[in-house]
Amino acid sequence: MKVSVKTPATIANLGPGFDSFGLALPLYNIVSVEETVLPGSGIEINIINEKNNEERNIIDIPTDKNNIVYKAIELLYNFIGQVPNELKITIKTQIPISRGLGSSASVIVGGLIAANELLGRVTDEKVLLSIATEIEGHPDNIAPAFKGGVMMSSWEEDGSVVCRSLPWNDDWKLMVCIPDYELNTDVSRSVLPKEVPMASAIYNLKRSAMFVDALYNKDEELLKLALKDKLHQPYREKLVPGLNEITNNLKHVNGVIGTVLCGAGPAILIIYNGIGVSEIKEIVSNTWDYFNVETSFLNLPIEKNGAVIL
Ligand code: HSE
Repeated sequence: MKVSVKTPATIANLGPGFDSFGLALPLYNIVSVEETVLPGSGIEINIINEKNNEERNIIDIPTDKNNIVYKAIELLYNFIGQVPNELKITIKTQIPISRGLGSSASVIVGGLIAANELLGRVTDEKVLLSIATEIEGHPDNIAPAFKGGVMMSSWEEDGSVVCRSLPWNDDWKLMVCIPDYELNTDVSRSVLPKEVPMASAIYNLKRSAMFVDALYNKDEELLKLALKDKLHQPYREKLVPGLNEITNNLKHVNGVIGTVLCGAGPAILIIYNGIGVSEIKEIVSNTWDYFNVETSFLNLPIEKNGAVIL
């Protein structure tokens, strides 16, 4: 038996909600899990990148027991008192890797849902969310990869994940600006301080509350105020040259609601109200050009569905 699961890309943080907010995008990875025919053949992991220009990434991804999909599946087997024996895992990737678009969350979630199905649905969504978050380290990409839409999530002290869907005003458009270089999440987290000033914590606390209220009330002016951050972006600016300049250059452009780092970066998300597309693109391209960074743009709606078994 072989089970395949298609899981969307995600963007985490969304400004003030570090490790808490995230949304799903219509770009997908597909993970297939099957028991291999020959007993004793062990673990086989194949990674197929559907974008040929990213071959180097493929080489960097472990295809042994250090692979994160395998590790997640192993935790699920352990949860039911078993160990995985003969397994073949195939990962087809469309989501750009190490850009802040949730490629790892997507394959972790896909692998877990597929393995759970293969094992005869041994556990429920709550446990899968919790195992996925344990592997990823934070739930903000995991929750929307699993369930789609815009989500708030919290990894609780007991290991459980609390998450809720938030509404989205479809008049608010997303432009994802993807630079031509990678930034590993561990590297991007390593520059964050262990403690932050109280004023920064309060700054984000207020803006997280504004963000939720703005979404419920379709309040564009409030969202403009909310899409700011003092907990991670200021520390990551040195890893994403041009972030500060792009944010400043777009501040007064008609139509722009906010500019935020996608997850741990380096991609940048611009939320705008449908006007000014070419001006926004030009500003981003020109600014990154100054830093010798090439950009590709994706204009995408929010993916309302999460992971699906194919
Ligand atoms: N919240 C995470 C971070 C998302 O910013 O490090 C990256 O996976």
